[in-house]
Amino acid sequence: MSQTISMQPTVKISPFGTTPNGDAISSYTLTNNQGTQAVIINFGAILQSLKTQDKNGNFADIVLGFDDLESYLTNPAYFGATIGRFGNRIGNGQCTIDGQTYTFLQNNGSNHLHGGAEGFDKKVWQAETVSDENSAGVILTLVSPDGDQGYPGNLTVKCEYHLTNDNQLQIKFTANTDKTTVVNLTNHSYFNLKQQGTMLDHLLEIPTAKLTPVDENMLPTGEIRDVAGTAFDFTTAKPIGQDIDAKDEQLKIGGGYDHNYYFDKADGELSLAAKTIEPASGRVLEIYTTEPGFQLYTGNFIGDDLSGKGRQYGKHAGFCVEPQHVPDAPNKPMFKSTLLTPEQTYTSEMRYVFSVVK
Ligand code: GLA
Repeated sequence: MSQTISMQPTVKISPFGTTPNGDAISSYTLTNNQGTQAVIINFGAILQSLKTQDKNGNFADIVLGFDDLESYLTNPAYFGATIGRFGNRIGNGQCTIDGQTYTFLQNNGSNHLHGGAEGFDKKVWQAETVSDENSAGVILTLVSPDGDQGYPGNLTVKCEYHLTNDNQLQIKFTANTDKTTVVNLTNHSYFNLKQQGTMLDHLLEIPTAKLTPVDENMLPTGEIRDVAGTAFDFTTAKPIGQDIDAKDEQLKIGGGYDHNYYFDKADGELSLAAKTIEPASGRVLEIYTTEPGFQLYTGNFIGDDLSGKGRQYGKHAGFCVEPQHVPDAPNKPMFKSTLLTPEQTYTSEMRYVFSVVK
């Protein structure tokens, strides 16, 4: 597909439907001076589309998603969504903060998943655009009121997307609260760098071989396990699907990869989480994060009934690398804390970096 490429990064605002409550939603199309294009909508602060070049200079959309707002109102697989207040699982839908027990919706067996029925992926965000000679961006803000989905404290959240001329989509989160609460924000984009079929043939490299194994409820057991030499070892690049059906108790529980990798690093240090190469198109995606780990999710539960952008989705149609703290950290004191006090500011940054190999 050919595109007109301007020298200056640009932001274009277009209508993207109206919610049942009457909120007008817009899409924000960020284009850099290489023609890379990211579309964000202010419903769910969702990354709706991401067009990057292949080795022949052809652009294609490399994220799973839908064409219309209506589909995003349900979005059962969380395509492209900003996840909060707490990404991933809180066991038994309960945790204790400052001596008080809080109860959340159990929307994943007995677990609370991805912030509840009306998580940040279902909220209308305020948006403002920013751009300069090096990048185009949109800054989305949200106030999640005290008691929202059961969480304590008024939480003010900012989610910034910046598309830079050196082909990085940077996502920065900040949050402040007026009562101690728990926060674990992430972006839930699914990638398929060839835009068709499954992503099982993509080569994946993950520098760390440390994992937090889960019990049968998909909750971390508390162990940090060295997985070198197992199906979970991606320290040398291999196709995502190579070992996905290996006889492995953890793969059986997850129905594929749906696990949290863990880094030993200083708090807030930006480091490479994963690198993916799709050999036919030559597209390369690197994902960086300041978080202590990330969930590798191979789209094991994507329904065959989901379709969008002229494609039928389904199991393994895309994969996610979701930077985050260890799931169920509010109930697992051995892991880094996800508590946010009124004196602190939550910050987290991730980057999707695009390139090609011939
Ligand atoms: C995360 C979870 C998965 C699944 C997806 C959304 O990756 O770990 O189990 O819930 O989100 O479908």
